[in-house]
Amino acid sequence: MGSSSDDEGEEYLFKIVIIGDSAVGKSNLLSRYARNEFNMHSKATIGVEFQTQSLEIDGKEVKAQIWDTAGQERFRAVTSAYYRGAFGALVVYDISRRSTFESIPRWLDELKTHSDTTVAKMLVGNKCDLENIRDVSVEEGKTLAESEGLFFMETSALDSTNVIKAFEIVIREIY
Ligand code: GTP
Ligand code: MG
Repeated sequence: MGSSSDDEGEEYLFKIVIIGDSAVGKSNLLSRYARNEFNMHSKATIGVEFQTQSLEIDGKEVKAQIWDTAGQERFRAVTSAYYRGAFGALVVYDISRRSTFESIPRWLDELKTHSDTTVAKMLVGNKCDLENIRDVSVEEGKTLAESEGLFFMETSALDSTNVIKAFEIVIREIY
């Protein structure tokens, strides 16, 4: 890393979006992945934020530009601009709140409506550390993902379970 021996032009930049209801943990998944940080008291996102994360695949530097927006309608930015050019999406619910799982079809519809290319999609059941108050079974997540043609993973931004995996499966699929 940091060397300049790469062939000119051999750089890959992919846009990935994170979507899902408010408070499912989108911003914490991103901060865990990009900075290894977690915030127990994070505030609702207003507008759009993004982080760029580099990784190496087959000896090539790949950069993922990961976009995070508000789950709350009133805080969201222009929808079409958010999705434009995205090659990957993490579609997130909270395993301890069933209503967030029931919203997934609406998020998938919105993604389909606004995306302009084929998008690699990962269904993410976040907060799997909250097993004691689980409200959506692993089986239900798997079944929905299979029927919609999505990858599936349960994650925890709190204890880091599967966070890197979830992002990197999507990034590798795009690449
Ligand atoms: P919006 O920006 O409003 O759309 O919400 P968000 O999806 O970005 O949620 P955010 O990352 O702000 O997290 C909401 C709350 O859930 C915060 O209190 C987090 O600390 C908590 N949280 C996020 N991920 C996890 C997790 O994996 N486990 C647990 N137990 N709590 C989590
Ligand atoms: Mg947020």
